[in-house]
Formats: sequence, structure tokens, C-alpha cells
Amino acid sequence: MKDANFSKKILCIGAGYVGGPTMAVIAAKCPQYKVTVVDINAARIDAWNSDKLPIYEPGLLDVVKQARGRNLFFSTDVDEAIREAEIIFVSVNTPTKSFGEGAGKAADLQYWELTARNIVRVSQSDKIIIEKSTLPVRTAEAMSRILNANEKGIRFEVLSNPEFLAEGTAVADLENPDRVLIGSQLTAEGIKARDAVVEIYANWIPKERILTSNVWSSELSKLVANAFLAQRISSINSISALCEKTEANVSEVSRAIGMDSRIGNKFLSSSVGFGGSCFQKDILNLVYICQSWGLTEVADYWEQVISMNEYQKRRFVQNMVKVMFNTVAGKRIALFGFAFKADTGDTRESPAISVAKQLLEEHSKVVITDPQALDNAKIDLADYADKLEFIPDPYEAAKGAHAIAVMTEWKEYKTLDYKRIFSDMERPSFIFDGRNVLDHKALFDLGFNVFPLGQPFHKHF
Ligand code: UDX
Ligand code: ADP
Repeated sequence: MKDANFSKKILCIGAGYVGGPTMAVIAAKCPQYKVTVVDINAARIDAWNSDKLPIYEPGLLDVVKQARGRNLFFSTDVDEAIREAEIIFVSVNTPTKSFGEGAGKAADLQYWELTARNIVRVSQSDKIIIEKSTLPVRTAEAMSRILNANEKGIRFEVLSNPEFLAEGTAVADLENPDRVLIGSQLTAEGIKARDAVVEIYANWIPKERILTSNVWSSELSKLVANAFLAQRISSINSISALCEKTEANVSEVSRAIGMDSRIGNKFLSSSVGFGGSCFQKDILNLVYICQSWGLTEVADYWEQVISMNEYQKRRFVQNMVKVMFNTVAGKRIALFGFAFKADTGDTRESPAISVAKQLLEEHSKVVITDPQALDNAKIDLADYADKLEFIPDPYEAAKGAHAIAVMTEWKEYKTLDYKRIFSDMERPSFIFDGRNVLDHKALFDLGFNVFPLGQPFHKHF
């Protein structure tokens, strides 16, 4: 199609885990729009233009292939793309600040601000600018000031449209979201811009699932949604510790409480800890905002969700050391999985990073296997490269090991030939199931000593 024939020209700045899949789905669902995704990272853009996408996400390649070259384009020409777009989603990274005021908690907004300044520099016409990255509440206001301080007479309407997709299920989440949230100023211009964005999503999402609100509610809702989800995991993880002391079974407790429709049964699986790029970052951000408003009690309350997560990761390794006769020094330990959850190669904030480091401090010989995340694991643990092994085949990884620790709930780990694995391991052989996904009784019958989370241990001694 000729450029002039597209009914909207949409741009996304930042071709990461959020920008790439979101724009691919918009392009696939709306062939009448031209959708361009730009990034300053040329290698990433090359990967988006190839059959080996830069992120592993089930079903994504099919969606990309459906639209790429037709109405979906990946490019490094940021300036040209800004000039021609009417609607710009900004999906650049917003890591936790590692320096200065707010270090360790506040969001680092330098990428966003650079992007805003770039938009001002090259734009020649009015545009709608949409925050897709999770940002602190009131960022849109600051961005609006920067954008609208231009002397060219160009008007930028800044909206917030947080993304709620989860990795591993991104395509399904985007195709069939629980809701889409669009925050705008409640002025005539704000509402007009909001309606233009509603129109995009209404191509495939029922209108009743498209919510609108003021900008700050929208920004805050994203932080709060992630804080609530993470809080559920920390809550059940806290109970897993209690179950281990009392011989209650955390899976039975989860099931019993989850059947209360007021509680619901999702996000109640006890684990070695939550990871991912969002939960910790967003809660820290929420904590920082509360502190800066003098809401100390509120900040402390949410900070506890993170403390509990840290405790769970520490507790997991402490338990390993304790049951393996108070020392793991020199013992080979195979970590099954390194991604922060199944069906992704992403390792950001993965609990496996912390577990690997703690085991190295205990002088274990750590071996890491994962079907998708070994490249990222090597980057995360680059400082320890000489002390680690990365082995794609789980059977090879477990050879000669004293223990296996399941870090990620990859479905392939449920169906491995554990008899074969057992025969190649040191005795006594241990399995620590940090995701409670294996058949513990069957493993015990094969001869393993099995340590689930929050459930009675199965041991031969
Ligand atoms: C999350 C939110 O779910 C999503 O809405 C938001 O847009 C981004 O952050 P994501 O981090 O991709 O998505 O994955 P999610 O499925 O939420 O899992 C986060 C972590 O919690 C993972 O480490 C996962 O293993 C862990 N988890 C999840 C548990 O430990 N127990 C559970 O019951 C559920
Ligand atoms: P997320 O998980 O939020 O999508 P990622 O880190 O996966 O975050 O992706 C953010 C992307 O934004 C990266 O590919 C990065 O190169 C890109 N990026 C950062 N700053 C800019 C910028 N000024 N212009 C274009 N792309 C940028």
C-alpha cells in the first residue's frame, strides 16, 4: 500500500519486550494503519527484520510475519519515523535509577526524556504521544511540559496507555486483554486524542474493555496492578515458610483459599521468588513516590512485598545448604531453568540469578541449563564466568551433580527421564523444586531426596 493510503501512521519508539509485540499485534489487527517500530539498537532492529526475533515469545513470529513489510516496519531511522507519525507510543526502558537522588528506587527517566527532546527537535506537526513504558505518576505532566515548551507552535497531547501483557503469553494477552486503559487530560484536546487511541484498540477489543481515566489514575493503576500481583506471591511465599514448619501443604492452602471467589485462584503459586522486569521495579517506584509524599507507613507496607521476596530467595539456598549436611562447597549443583518464568528467554530479576550467586558464595560448582535463557544467563553472570558451566542439555547438566534445583517451571522439566538423571548423579541425590512442578512422590520412589516449597519433604534419611 502507498503511504498516503494508510488511515493512520503509528510509531513506537523502543523495540523491546513491550514495544515489539504490542506493535506487531496492532499491525496484524489493523492492516489499514502503517505501524513503524524504531530503536537505536541496530542489532535489535536487524533481529526484528529476521526470522530470529530478539525476544522469545510463543506465537510472536507468526504475528510479525503476517504484517511485516505490509504495514509493519522495523527501522533505526528514528527521526524520519517521528516526522511522519501522527501517534507515537514511547516504550523505551525505564530501569530503576542506579545513581543520585532516589538511587535503587526511583525510575531512571533519562531515556524517556531524551526521547521527548528528540520528538520536539524533529517534529513538524501536532502529535499524540503515548506513555507505554511504566513511569512514575505525573511523568506525563513533566513530559507534556518538555514537549510543549517548543517554539514551533506544535501541540503534543500526552496520554498514558500502560501495557499489562505478561511475558510468555504476550500475544494472547494483546489479542484478548482483560482491559486496555487510556489516560488523558480531560480537556477537549485530551479527549479527542484519547478517542483516536480508543479507535485503534476498538478494531479488535470490545468497547466495554477499553477503559478511560485521567492521566494520573492510568499511570498509578499500572504500578498498583503490579504491586497487587506481586503482593499475592509474597503473601503465599510467606505462608510456604510457615507450612514447612508445621507440615501443612502450601498447595493445599492455595487451593482452599483460591476457591473463595473473593480471593480467586490465580497468582497463588508459591515459588522461589518472583522475577521479571516489572514487579520489583514498579514496587520500588511506588515506595519512592509514597516516601516523597511523606507517606512512610504506606511506603513501608509495600516495601515489605520486596523484603519477603528477598527472604524467599535467601531461604531457598539456606535450606539447600542445611539439608545437604551444612555444606555445598565443591558440590556440583544443576540449576534447571534460568528464565524468570517459563516460555521466555528473559532473565531480568530472575530469582535464579540470586540463587546462583548465593551458591557460588558457598563455593558450589554451579551448572546452568535452560531451553531459552542461556545467552542472557551468561550476560547476567559474566563476572563469574570462570566458576560456572552453561549446558543446554539438562541430562548433561545433571551428570555428576549432588543436587538439582528447579528455578523455572519449563514444562519439559516435568517429563524428563529422572531415572536416567538419577543414575548419573552423586549419592545422596537431592532435588529442590523451587516451582513445585515435579512429581515429588515419584522422584522419591526413584531414590531422590525431594524438597518442595511449603510442602512436607520426602527424604530417605
Ligand atoms: C507482570 C504482570 O503480570 C503484567 O501484567 C505486567 O504488564 C508486567 O509484569 P511478567 O513479569 O511478564 O508480567 O510475568 P508474570 O506472569 O506476572 O510473573 C512475574 C513473576 O511472578 C515470575 O517470576 C513468575 O514466575 C512469578 N509468579 C507468578 C509466581 O511466583 N507465582 C505465581 O503464582 C505467579
Ligand atoms: P521493555 O521491557 O519495557 O520493552 P526493553 O529494555 O526490552 O524494555 O526495551 C526498551 C528498548 O528501548 C530497547 O531496545 C532500547 O534500545 C530502546 N531505546 C532506549 N532509548 C531509546 C531512544 N532514545 N530511541 C529509541 N530507542 C530507545
